[in-house]
Amino acid sequence: MALVMLGMASCGNNKAKEMITTESFGTFEGKDIFLYTLTNKNGDFIRLSNYGAVIVEINVPDRNGKRDNVTFGYDTFEGYANGDLYFGKVVGQYANRIAKGKFSLDGVEYTLALNNGPNTLHGGPTGWHSRAWDAEVLKGTDFPAVKFTYHKSDMEEGFPGHVVAEVVYTWTDDNEIIMDYKVTTDKNTVINITNHAYFNLHGAGVGDILDHEALIRASAFTPVDSTLIPTGEIRPVEGTPFDFRTPHLIGERIAMDYDQLVLGGGYDHNFVLDNVEPVDAEVYDPSTGRLLEVITDQPGVQLYTGNFLNGTQTGRGGKVYNYRTGFCLETQHFPDSPNQSAFPSVVLTPEEPFLSSTTFRFSVR
Ligand code: GAL
Repeated sequence: MALVMLGMASCGNNKAKEMITTESFGTFEGKDIFLYTLTNKNGDFIRLSNYGAVIVEINVPDRNGKRDNVTFGYDTFEGYANGDLYFGKVVGQYANRIAKGKFSLDGVEYTLALNNGPNTLHGGPTGWHSRAWDAEVLKGTDFPAVKFTYHKSDMEEGFPGHVVAEVVYTWTDDNEIIMDYKVTTDKNTVINITNHAYFNLHGAGVGDILDHEALIRASAFTPVDSTLIPTGEIRPVEGTPFDFRTPHLIGERIAMDYDQLVLGGGYDHNFVLDNVEPVDAEVYDPSTGRLLEVITDQPGVQLYTGNFLNGTQTGRGGKVYNYRTGFCLETQHFPDSPNQSAFPSVVLTPEEPFLSSTTFRFSVR
């Protein structure tokens, strides 16, 4: 489909190079789907869409100034509508897994659709990643910013409450994507929201990520069973291949005969963040010099090393995404928290909105 330029806006400070352009990207259930390009003063740019509140592209330089897109995406809206691996999407109402699609709240048992073996994954088959969100280009902001809003009806996908979810994406001159989330409800419910971007700091579709060096400021992680549901154990990372408190190549220990790596098919686990240093996790690519830093107020982060990627997804520019060619750092509450009373609470009440912020910052070293 030909892209039609619909609008151009420079933001509050009127720096000519910092702007947002809006193009048509398709329609879904009668709603217009747009593709937004946010450019900062460096000329670096990201693309977003209101289908699934998705990050489509992140174009940032390597240490020689060569700009590449470092996140997985599709060329067309149809790619997003058909793709089932959540590239760049916002997932909710409950990111990650809920065991057997059941949980109880205030004495009522709720049943969700199963879409991942015996479990519910990422809000179910028609979770927030697969919905058309309302979109607004924000005016008067210091940096280009777009707000996406989704109104979820009561019991949609089995979750109680009319829920309103907002995510504001801001693209700063320091090459930071700041994601500010706000979620409200009219009835007690559960919430876990994240962005599911896959990264490859060589450039999306260029080799695997086993040679990327990761640092995760987490002293413990949550081991899983064979269906990737936490067992309830909080296991110290000390002495395990899950100790990323000092940098390690992702591939260094991934093939070790360690129970959790075998069960996960690699890393596909929630790390219990220490939340003490300003930066919670970093991934560095020695070959390009690109560095991704992740900053969050959430208690956990899922390191997923693309173990289910198998080359069936063709992404932007015809790039094929093979096994372990992308990693995700999904900032979150712990998986299956509604069924794990010892985990931090994920209950959202009408009295108090859920407010959270996660930043992906790109630079070179
Ligand atoms: C991740 C999850 C993986 C896999 C992936 C999507 O968040 O931890 O197990 O389901 O999403 O393919």
